[in-house]
Parts: sequence; structure tokens; C-alpha cells
Amino acid sequence: MKAITLIGFGGVENLVKTDIPIPDISDDEVLVKVKAISINPVDIKTRKGRGHASKLKEYNPIILGWDISGIVDKTGKSVTSFKKGDEVFGMINFPGHGKAYAEYVAAPESHLALKPFNVSHEEAAAASLAALTAWQILKEKASIKPGYKVLIHSAAGGVGHYAVQMSKHLGAYVIGTASGKNRDFVLGLGASEHIDYEKQPFEDVIEDIDFVLDSIGGDYIDRSLKVLRCGGTIISIPSGASEFVTEKAKAKGMNGETFRVKSDGGDMKEISALLQMGIVKSHVSKIFGFDEIQSAHLQIETGKTKGKIVVMLP
Ligand SMILES: NC(=O)c1ccc[n+]([C@@H]2O[C@H](COP(=O)([O-])OP(=O)(O)OC[C@H]3O[C@@H](n4cnc5c(N)ncnc54)[C@H](OP(=O)(O)O)[C@@H]3O)[C@@H](O)[C@H]2O)c1
Repeated sequence: MKAITLIGFGGVENLVKTDIPIPDISDDEVLVKVKAISINPVDIKTRKGRGHASKLKEYNPIILGWDISGIVDKTGKSVTSFKKGDEVFGMINFPGHGKAYAEYVAAPESHLALKPFNVSHEEAAAASLAALTAWQILKEKASIKPGYKVLIHSAAGGVGHYAVQMSKHLGAYVIGTASGKNRDFVLGLGASEHIDYEKQPFEDVIEDIDFVLDSIGGDYIDRSLKVLRCGGTIISIPSGASEFVTEKAKAKGMNGETFRVKSDGGDMKEISALLQMGIVKSHVSKIFGFDEIQSAHLQIETGKTKGKIVVMLP
């Protein structure tokens, strides 16, 4: 099969199309013929030698990527949830070696869900790591009640655009930060307010926020703590940028944590239901071919991607 292997940590030229054997599966895995892959900032960080590079460097070859949607080709002996021909999607082996940039992926049964029939493979692949991050944080950490004021930073990005839709669904009053060009997009996702971070410091215009999802880090942590109510919660997700969030929040009588998404087929099933009912939609702003993964990486590196980008396989 064809796979995109990473021949060394560094630039996009190190992502090389290679012929390798179709992976074997263990008893609890299914072999998925991949139709679509989504690309996330962690793919780029890992390619450059950060992110999950320290975990993956012992493998040869290294195959990046975690998000897939595709068709079950074969099932392991103990698999009961899926059969050959089922359309499935999920975030595979995260944190770990997902090996998603390939024509076939060996995926644990427990990391997958059935793809809704009314959702395309590209929309399903998009709704894996980014959607799981938003959903796990909101379910496990936000305790949203109707009327809760929720601030979503990077509301137009991968995680943010799912977080806006999900928070709204859970009953929150949602405020999203994004540049001016994404104002209509963010409001269209269900946010009640958009703050153009290029024109206005958000801390000058909002207060008494119950929950902040921070996907930027750095001074966004201190600035977000200024707008949180006493007892409110901030979850900061960029790797490395937020190690002091817990102490800083505690000093002000607030809750602060970092968070890392985990592969979870149960959560994927919930996302599948949200997609099927049209409560959550993936906004795929650009589709790349399998030969264009380098360009897809460069797009994510701009830090300006709207919604998600996806790579389609033939
Ligand atoms: N810990 C975890 O488990 C976990 C999981 C997923 C992601 N992450 C991390 O979370 C971060 C975001 O991931 P992502 O997939 O959402 O990234 P992304 O899709 O690449 O984010 C791009 C978006 O960021 C927005 N943006 C850039 N600067 C901004 C600013 N100063 N204020 C508000 N919005 C801004 C852009 O909007 P404009 O074009 O309007 O500026 C763009 O739409 C990354 O660092 C990623 O590694 C962590």
C-alpha cells in the first residue's frame, strides 16, 4: 500500500510517499481502508520534532496522522461492533502512533464509531481529534448549565468551531474570538457574540465568564483569568504553553487545567449522533489530494485555517 512516511523530523519535504505492506491486525483491531484523513496542528509539531516526536522516534517507519474515516476491510477475531463494509471514523491511538497517512490503517475497535450515512467521509474525518477535544473538555470539565457564559478562543479554528456548536447545544451563551473576516462564520456557528481580537482586547469588553477554552496559551491565560468569574474554570490546550495555568487560576480563586484529548470510541459515538442529527457540522474549508499532504501541512502552519482541512484518498 501507499503511505506517507516521515523520513526525519523537519520540513514538509520529509513527508515522502512510500510503498509499505498493509498492516496486520490484532484480535481487537479492524483494518480500515482509508477514504479521508484530517490534519491537525499536532501533526505539524510532531513532524518538526516537537509534539509527539519523542514517543514516535523509536519507530521505523514513522507515519503521522490520527484522524481517519473509511471502510472496514477486515476485522480481528474478538471484534463485535463492526463488520466488513461498515463505514467508520475516529481518532486512532492518540497519544501514540496513529499511522493515519496511509491507504490502510489498523485501528482498535474501541477507538472507532460508525460514520453517519448523511455525513461524508471528509466531514467525518474532520470530526475526530478536533471534535473529540472540544467534546471531552465540555463534557468532563465545563459543567455547562443553561445560560452559562462560555468564552471560546480561536472560535473559527478546528477545535474552536466544534466547541462553539457544542457549547451552544449544551445551553451556553457563547462568545468567540476570531479575526474580523471570520465574524459571520463564528456567529453562524451559534455564538451570541464575536470579538475581533485584532481590533479589541477581549478583556476590555467581557466579564463574569463561567468557562474559558483557551487554544492559544501565552498571555491569553492571564488575560482570560481577568474575565473569569470567581470559581470559574479555564482549560488551556496548547502543548507546553500553559504549565502555570493551575497555579495562576488557584491564586485567583478559579480553576485552571491543561488537557490532552484521548482516543475513545464511546465519545466518538456521541459525536457521530451529534453529526447525524445536524447539531454539529464539520466545516471543511479545503480538501487536498493524497499527493498534497505537504501543502496541507503548510496550510495548518499558517495558523489561519478556517474550520478543518482534509486529505482525500482515491
Ligand atoms: N491538548 C490537546 O488535546 C489538544 C487538542 C487539539 C488541539 N490542541 C492545540 O490547540 C491549538 C488549536 O488547535 P486547532 O486545531 O483549533 O488549530 P487551528 O485550526 O489551526 O486554528 C486556526 C484558527 O486559529 C485562529 N486564531 C489564530 N490566532 C488567534 C487569536 N490570537 N485569537 C483568536 N483566534 C486566533 C484563526 O482564526 P483567524 O484566522 O480568525 O485569526 C484560525 O481560524 C493548537 O495549538 C493545537 O495543537 C491541543
